[in-house]
Amino acid sequence: MANRFKSDLTWGDVTPETAFLNRRAFMAGATALGAGSIMSPALAASQYSTDEEPNTFEQITSYNNFYEFGTGKTDPAENAHALTTNPWPIEIGGLVEKPGTYEFEDLKKEMTIEERIYRFRCVEAWSMVVPWNGFELADLLDMVGVKPEAKYVYFETLVRPDEMIGQNWNTVPWPYREGLRLDEAMHPLTLVATGIYGKDMPNQNGAPLRLVVPWKYGFKSIKSIVKIELTDKQPETSWNMINAREYGFYSNVNPEVDHPRWSQASERRLGGGLFAKRIPTLMFNGYEEEVASLYEGMDLRKNY
Ligand code: MTE
Repeated sequence: MANRFKSDLTWGDVTPETAFLNRRAFMAGATALGAGSIMSPALAASQYSTDEEPNTFEQITSYNNFYEFGTGKTDPAENAHALTTNPWPIEIGGLVEKPGTYEFEDLKKEMTIEERIYRFRCVEAWSMVVPWNGFELADLLDMVGVKPEAKYVYFETLVRPDEMIGQNWNTVPWPYREGLRLDEAMHPLTLVATGIYGKDMPNQNGAPLRLVVPWKYGFKSIKSIVKIELTDKQPETSWNMINAREYGFYSNVNPEVDHPRWSQASERRLGGGLFAKRIPTLMFNGYEEEVASLYEGMDLRKNY
């Protein structure tokens, strides 16, 4: 299991963004300074973090999918400043012991914020490596108490066309919706991200809180969440509603199952430039060891 120590301290608190080094160099430096003893456990390398080089803050925040702000890759960076995120009430309900409306800032104080460096693979075959900060969804679900009948978790994004300019068009049946099976939601890799690079979440990346499920295609990682509901039926999800043939409920990264219109065998890492070599896509986006057992006995071609 991940670190369960309480701390709000993240990488960004101790190292300015401009002095951002790769994790190994940073950890080596911290040890040399004898900082290990005073360092927050949140700064210790998570067993779930990749040691691949993270993409830059600039790359992660300037090439986005967030249809609430337009369908172009730079639309979110241009338009998402209009979103106001304080206050941010989150409705948690359905099959839980403690349903209610929880204010994001209050809720965050109750959670253990960790840094997790994850690979992130979009269904469109671009990818990046992101140093998220956030907490395990399991901790939040434990806090509200999941009833035994619950089998799925459903999520919804804010609807506020005044601030979300893309919601004035029917590109997606708003609100954007997503869902996970309960065991997927409870998996320690499943993160509720509250920021990147130790900072609060930039609006274009899904402020103030978004899901990150690193072994699934990026569209499962729903942004700017305002509603979480525990259910006993598989919930409707946006991309499945838009095109069920192309986007299944599970959407696990799988290089062996092509999208009907393109190959999923390889990917383009952001920042590599126009002529960068594509890299092979890994089964479950490289998290096979951690998550394959969740799908034992399932035909991954049928249950895509
Ligand atoms: N969440 C909402 N609410 N709206 C969206 O359009 N796009 C999804 C996902 N979450 C999306 C969303 C898709 S397709 C991807 S690839 C990721 O967000 C992109 O996350 P990023 O912009 O932080 O890289």
